[in-house]
Amino acid sequence: MTPSQNIVQGLKTGIFGKKIFTFETIDSTNTCARLLAESGVEEGTVVYAEEQSAGRGRLKRKWHSTKGENLLFSVIFTPDFKERRYYLIPLLAAVAIIEGIRKCVPACPVVVKWPNDILLESGEKIGGILTEFTRTYDGKLRVIAGIGLNVNQTRFPENLKTRASSIQLSAGKKVDRFFILREILSGIEKYYNVLQNPDKRDMVVERWRSYCTMFNKPVSVQLGAAEHTGICRDIDDDGALLIENKNGEILRIVAGDVTSVAFNS
Ligand code: BTN
Repeated sequence: MTPSQNIVQGLKTGIFGKKIFTFETIDSTNTCARLLAESGVEEGTVVYAEEQSAGRGRLKRKWHSTKGENLLFSVIFTPDFKERRYYLIPLLAAVAIIEGIRKCVPACPVVVKWPNDILLESGEKIGGILTEFTRTYDGKLRVIAGIGLNVNQTRFPENLKTRASSIQLSAGKKVDRFFILREILSGIEKYYNVLQNPDKRDMVVERWRSYCTMFNKPVSVQLGAAEHTGICRDIDDDGALLIENKNGEILRIVAGDVTSVAFNS
């Protein structure tokens, strides 16, 4: 079966994944999804690849993934809700990923780390989300959520060995990648509908919080040369990180890399 047949078989969504572009090798599924989004392709279109030659991570990093072992895909959203709520799209994707993994592989304990990382409880990274914004030729905003998830990869390059892992390494057995992908697409559709319902939309942030283990711990957030240290308290309704510094002030952080720190004072 081809990846595309595998994904579609048993897919229960109405919009997400109904149109899929699959590639053996591509530079980056996000780059391709971006071009498709700009040309006006329909919402829910997925770009999937077995391998990327120039996979991109956050903050201009590279995304490494061994061919045919993991999940590499990008999803196109055409939201018509208020602009500040676009920032909740990566959060809803993270919730869908966590719940998809927990359903398909209950033996794999996964959590979220702000802003867009999927980790094992032990702290190794198994996935990430790269969110990008673009516009159609006639000016409509489009959102692309690119998801990389280490499913069956068991060997990592030397520089990633201690920090990266996979679902297979955690669960101790090979896992059906497409089962997880279908569940993630179902979750994305479910929570995207939730975001559009004013009575229910808080649920996305609440679910995200419940999968996060960073709260009330000392952290350091770094973006370029700037660094903020404090206790991680919460995320706000737009998905920004709230940390309390040593003066008791709450800092609102919208981008950066978080590391756990030990406090000396
Ligand atoms: C991160 O943790 O830095 C985000 C990683 C996102 C990687 C995925 S793989 C599919 C999609 N295409 C890309 O080039 N990047 C994203």
